[in-house]
Amino acid sequence: MTKVITYGTYDMLHYGHIHLLERAKALGDFLIVGVTSDDFDKARGKINVQQSLTERIEAVKATGLADQVIIEEYEGQKIDDLKRYDIDIFTVGSDWAGKFDYLREYCRVVYLDRTHGISSTELRAESRKVRIGLVGGNEPQILEKYYKECKFVNGAEVSGVCTSNKQLLHGIFNAAPATNTLEELMEMSDAFYIISHPSEHYTQVKKALEHGKHVLCESPIALRKQEIRELYKIADRQGLILMDAIKTAYGMAYNRLLLLLKSGKIGRIVSVDSTCTSMRNVDLNDPESSGAWNSICAWGPTGMLPVFQLLGTDYEKVRLASFFHDKACKYDLFTKMDFVYKKAVASVKVGRGVKSEGELIISGTEGYIYVPAPWWNTDYFEIRYEDPTHNKRYFYQLDGEGIRYELVAFLKSINTGRNNTYVERKVSETFGKVLDKFYNGSVYSLM
Ligand code: CTP
Repeated sequence: MTKVITYGTYDMLHYGHIHLLERAKALGDFLIVGVTSDDFDKARGKINVQQSLTERIEAVKATGLADQVIIEEYEGQKIDDLKRYDIDIFTVGSDWAGKFDYLREYCRVVYLDRTHGISSTELRAESRKVRIGLVGGNEPQILEKYYKECKFVNGAEVSGVCTSNKQLLHGIFNAAPATNTLEELMEMSDAFYIISHPSEHYTQVKKALEHGKHVLCESPIALRKQEIRELYKIADRQGLILMDAIKTAYGMAYNRLLLLLKSGKIGRIVSVDSTCTSMRNVDLNDPESSGAWNSICAWGPTGMLPVFQLLGTDYEKVRLASFFHDKACKYDLFTKMDFVYKKAVASVKVGRGVKSEGELIISGTEGYIYVPAPWWNTDYFEIRYEDPTHNKRYFYQLDGEGIRYELVAFLKSINTGRNNTYVERKVSETFGKVLDKFYNGSVYSLM
């Protein structure tokens, strides 16, 4: 019996795939098809796959051509498979010609002519593009990053930029139409990414939603809990997607860390300590007039994210202490937030005028997790125990600082009508609760 194996993603199965599978089958008596797992695809930079692994496997099975379907999960697996399944022929399309010659040591390698004029990439691109308008300018680097990252996401297209920052328009944005008002940008957009000054978010998000536009807004999406609630309600009423943008939430390492912790890897979590600081783009002599975000807005949501996602949002107490540049206008150069829960504590340090080690430490009854600086932008973490021989290091892929995955989730939400956000609504609202206290409640001043 001649055994043949072939691999692929098989997203949105098309006649090019079927033609390949037919010829692969004809090469022998038994055909094994390896379908790539979502993680494997992400790790090799294929982030736009539309269908889940299960859907793709079902589609391959439905062709009736595969005698066995396996999942391709890691680099180097092909050699393992050739030995494990005693394969005679390895085959793929000619777009891979030469790439798998190293497998000739184990079996025959056959490159089959690729079918012209069709690919999953083209099919994905054909579905109607979501036109994303970019709004803001106070934090130009971030806006630029989103502009660049949109290009990596199938189905997204930057429709234009609305900014008061004229310098920006002469930079990388010169290719995108510029508008002065949100109204103008509305005409040409289906959705918005907003990163204006946090004090403007509420009005802009509300306006966009009321005009039927989906919104991805940099966190915090408003400065009051009530306002955040109201915005989500408007989005629900309008059948629109509103997402709180925190790129960290979309990083693979951060996500795996949450899953590991929830499965009890370090026992019961007793303390979460996170620190986020950066001094970039802030004129410390006059931070407000440059429009730069204060510390609690710039870093607060990211810093609080692991606290609320791990310990929940029902804390008993929070105490805030800030080092203000100007207390009257609440421009904090540094803030420390101490949370007390029934059975745990947390501390979050954020700063744009004070520098510290940007690490995340989660302490449990059996061990702790250590994420080195900058933890919010990480591809690596460690689980550490009393006995260091049990320590474990975890490495993951991080493309585009998580922004790319965030945009993919935003588009998927728009296309399916189901919110795929990684920042739960409750978490988003609780940022507002802490901000309420910061702006209207008591804050210990370190001046
Ligand atoms: N294939 C083919 N002819 C096509 C498209 C794909 O013969 N027009 C083959 C590939 O060479 C590969 C298999 O089908 O052996 C699975 O390919 P896959 O990468 O899943 O499909 P693509 O359409 O190439 O996907 P993408 O555009 O995402 O790269």
